[in-house]
Amino acid sequence: MRVLITGSSGQIGTNLALRLLADGHDVFGVDKRQNTWTDDFRYLLQDLSGHYPAYPGGIGGVEYPEVDLVVHLAAHAKVHQLVAQPHRALENAVMTFNVLEYCRQRRLPLVFSSTREVYGDVHRFEGYGEATADFAFTESPYSASKIASEAFIYAYARCYGLKYLAFRFSNVYGRFDNDLHRMSRVLPLFIHSMSRDEPITVYGGADKVLDFTYVDDCVDGIVRGVEALADGRVANETINLGYGEGNTLVRAAELIAAELEAEPRMTIAPSLLGEVTHYVADIRKAHDLLGWTPRVALHEGIPLAVEWFREHRLANPAEDRPVVNEGDSVGWKTVLGDPS
Ligand SMILES: NC(=O)c1ccc[n+]([C@@H]2O[C@H](COP(=O)([O-])OP(=O)(O)OC[C@H]3O[C@@H](n4cnc5c(N)ncnc54)[C@H](O)[C@@H]3O)[C@@H](O)[C@H]2O)c1
Repeated sequence: MRVLITGSSGQIGTNLALRLLADGHDVFGVDKRQNTWTDDFRYLLQDLSGHYPAYPGGIGGVEYPEVDLVVHLAAHAKVHQLVAQPHRALENAVMTFNVLEYCRQRRLPLVFSSTREVYGDVHRFEGYGEATADFAFTESPYSASKIASEAFIYAYARCYGLKYLAFRFSNVYGRFDNDLHRMSRVLPLFIHSMSRDEPITVYGGADKVLDFTYVDDCVDGIVRGVEALADGRVANETINLGYGEGNTLVRAAELIAAELEAEPRMTIAPSLLGEVTHYVADIRKAHDLLGWTPRVALHEGIPLAVEWFREHRLANPAEDRPVVNEGDSVGWKTVLGDPS
């Protein structure tokens, strides 16, 4: 199969591309940034958020190679960065629109990367089955951008016969997520800080519960989706891909500390604006439709993530410096005021 991956320089995109290549597929990537992890596949440097005229050969009038299916991962993927910079959320929706127009004109099936953020911060719901998402509970511009993207996809399926699968991911961690100076995510940031004997802040309270997904599990779910969609076995479904188990962020920090043999110095702080404080994925649908079962629990995934971090840091000692773009939150507090 020939697969076009947008966002191919990112964490999930890079892992997915390498897995598809290993499975014997052909991959072509599009991203606006260079891939700093691998040069094993061809990709095009292109900003996908432009207001381009529709063009069948490729987005923005660029001729892409022939492909059989598109996996659309490109996005600004950081919740509170988009609280500070909401125009980036609009860019997410525009990127999805551009990808959809390309798929419509080429009659290509689409796999989309949505998020558990579309459920909002809804403790009152007993579960997070795929039908529980409701746009009245939109918590943040990021969430709005994914809800808008999903809505466009559903509309294209109805009006133009688009075949799609929309996956809702949850806190994906592990290999290639340690791009801290571009975009800090919570687990890699904890690993980085604790390995430098720096204190960490747990936003959202000691009882903040999230569903952490090891990247290989996430990628395995996407690959199963790609194959099922391409074969016509499964189409036009929205599917949660999480581990299906809740863990407090405090426990995740403790597991990291144990792995690093560090003494965690934790400050518990109120939630940042827009953040979800409780989510555990209902993953029965992914199992039923795709035969997918996640394999790596948090206590198994953290050692893998820390091990990968160690190797990467050894090869890149210059990254052992304070993270300046933690700044997402600093800048955001400056702009909006600290909600606490
Ligand atoms: N990692 C997670 O925990 C998680 C959870 C839920 C959803 N998602 C979604 O999965 C997708 C992939 O996430 P990721 O973790 O790999 O993120 P990532 O930030 O590592 O990768 C996203 C890629 O999109 C690219 N991109 C952004 N704007 C672009 C533009 N205008 N034109 C071209 N490329 C652009 C970035 O350069 C980046 O390489 C995203 O859509 C994200 O919202 C991720």
